[in-house]
Amino acid sequence: MTLSLDTGQTMSDDEFRIIRDSIYSHCGIFFDDDSKYLLEKRLARRLPALSLNNFREYYHFLKYDRNKDQEMMDIMDVLTTNETYFFRESFQLSAFTDEVIPELISVKSARGDRTLRIWSAGCSTGEEPYTIAMLLRDMPGLRGWKVEIIGTDISQRVLQHARRGVYTKSSFRATEERYIKRFFYEYDGGLKVTDDIREMVTISHLNLFDKIRMMMLGKMDLIFCRNVIIYFDLAAKKRVVEEFHRSLNDGGFLLLGHSESLMNVTTLFTLRHFKNDMIYQRPERSALGGGS
Ligand SMILES: C[S@@+](CC[C@H](N)C(=O)[O-])C[C@H]1O[C@@H](n2cnc3c(N)ncnc32)[C@H](O)[C@@H]1O
Repeated sequence: MTLSLDTGQTMSDDEFRIIRDSIYSHCGIFFDDDSKYLLEKRLARRLPALSLNNFREYYHFLKYDRNKDQEMMDIMDVLTTNETYFFRESFQLSAFTDEVIPELISVKSARGDRTLRIWSAGCSTGEEPYTIAMLLRDMPGLRGWKVEIIGTDISQRVLQHARRGVYTKSSFRATEERYIKRFFYEYDGGLKVTDDIREMVTISHLNLFDKIRMMMLGKMDLIFCRNVIIYFDLAAKKRVVEEFHRSLNDGGFLLLGHSESLMNVTTLFTLRHFKNDMIYQRPERSALGGGS
């Protein structure tokens, strides 16, 4: 028997399945049968907060109440795993700065296009989009370019943190001192990102399961979606990655986390072997013989 620490309420197996299925269809995060206790523990506080007696009533609330959409949005704050830090996965970032960006600069400037749009999808508290901004800030090849970096996440709590831009020790475990000196200043017991970096980044709310909002973001040259789809099952991974394919310009890049791969998920992308890392690319239209 499992006992919830907060309310003493337990979820029956049936309640667990219907609640986890509602969560899955909202955002793609899948709780397998072994995660019942975790879900019970994370949602336990919602029962007294909504004056509900048990998880069956909670399921009905999620399904039928007029505040159901707000509740689903709010519980994303407790259901998501938000671990992140600046300059995460340095070998991939070396491929990004030394190989991928120079290639994009030469391909795009040959077409007379001096814009660069980068999306950090599932940006959590913002370390990832700010890292990208710091890496691009002084790149000579981008002088005079319009560079847009967009960070999005499903959790409103982490987005508030990202917008504030103040960080403590655990965010800096992989940050070289020169970046701390150049791009942060002491603020309110932590370190705050300088305005010139914050101005390069737009932070907004987006559920990767919301096709319309994803399409509204427009075309990207590069998408970072690292350590996000690991929480999805295969069908959800496929759905989101196919949307990324649609969002990318021809020849655009998709950067996943180091433990993630598209093997058995989709064949829409080409795996490019760079010196520092392997990175997925949406093939150029000409490479496909003119198809879309
Ligand atoms: C572990 S963090 C990864 C942060 C950063 N990308 C990195 O690699 O350091 C995963 C983030 O994905 C977000 N996430 C999970 N499901 C999502 C969804 N359906 N739509 C948007 N963001 C989602 C979570 O809220 C969480 O902040």
